[in-house]
Amino acid sequence: MTQAVTTSAPAPRARVQAMKEYHPPLGNRDALRLDFNENTLDCSPKVREALGRIAAGALTRYPEREPVEALLAAHLGLRPEQVALTNGVDEAIHVLFQTFLDAGDELLLPVPTYTMYEVYASATEARVVTVQAGDDLQFPFEQILAAITPRTRIIAVANPNSPSGTVASRAQLLALAQRAPQAVLMVDEAYFHFYGETVLDLVGAVPNLVVARTFSKAYGLAGLRIGMLAGPVELMRWVRRVLSPYSVNSLALACLPPAIEDAAYLDWYVGEVRAARAEFESALDALGMRRWPSRANFVLVEIGPRHAEFVRLMNAAGVLVRDRSSDPGCDGRVRITIGTREQMKQAIAALDRTMTTLRAGSEAQ
Ligand SMILES: Cc1ncc(COP(=O)(O)O)c(C=O)c1O
Repeated sequence: MTQAVTTSAPAPRARVQAMKEYHPPLGNRDALRLDFNENTLDCSPKVREALGRIAAGALTRYPEREPVEALLAAHLGLRPEQVALTNGVDEAIHVLFQTFLDAGDELLLPVPTYTMYEVYASATEARVVTVQAGDDLQFPFEQILAAITPRTRIIAVANPNSPSGTVASRAQLLALAQRAPQAVLMVDEAYFHFYGETVLDLVGAVPNLVVARTFSKAYGLAGLRIGMLAGPVELMRWVRRVLSPYSVNSLALACLPPAIEDAAYLDWYVGEVRAARAEFESALDALGMRRWPSRANFVLVEIGPRHAEFVRLMNAAGVLVRDRSSDPGCDGRVRITIGTREQMKQAIAALDRTMTTLRAGSEAQ
């Protein structure tokens, strides 16, 4: 006798069912892409040359990450055992959370911040404790200190933060690490190059500090998916137990050495973005638009109740920007990535037109 076939699929864990859906736009985006904080131009030409030299063996064999990890560690002044390459910083975050967060543990987060922290926490049974930043979106240091409990197991700080572009100081980060020795302090330095300040030099000296970095932003390798986590050897040993040995693919491994060696290209791109950021901020000021001072390659701008229309009009003018209205405390705010000065001229022209249309519309009402 054949068994009855059930018609519904098995349900996932309750925690997963309760998760909010996170759907960044992933197709049909043929415009100036100022919505993902990517490098808006290109990676180093040396990376393209390396891609051209990829041999068949690089594809048939499983990727061998150790030599590249050793090279990167030397580049950063760290020991190879202190550094793990990951499939983008996203994998570093995911694996760190899986390594340290048990049921009943607490992940402490200032918000608004990078959305994926909450997503990966939801893949564990830990509790997410959020601390809302004030209207100035400055790092809520005192409130974070006050929220630390014996169950705090990870404190995640994006520095500079997204979507605000604001930063926590080195002294504040050190104080957090010291106040919560039972917790891992993860400093996510995805936007480090546009800021210039780091706590990477404290890795190893501070027993509960880990630093995450990505090659998706300034280096322009978002499509290859490569990032890293650095921390004390004892801690990284546990992380490596959870990390897939093969999650960083051979093409990414072949491209990382030329990317980190080409300091001239990185410096040029970062200099270009910093200059473009200053020009774009001046343009926002001239239009009388409120913005938050940013140390990253994006600026958060106050649009108000017509934020969705603003995003639509900018898109129609050929510029993609990101509505952050659903982030905590960000209603009516839109994040705009900073590209090159040339690209930002196009963005400023689109902004001028969009604001003229919006303001004409408000007067007519
Ligand atoms: C703060 C922060 N961390 C990490 C990431 C993701 O980096 P990756 O592309 O290396 O996964 C982002 C991407 O937007 C980010 O804003």
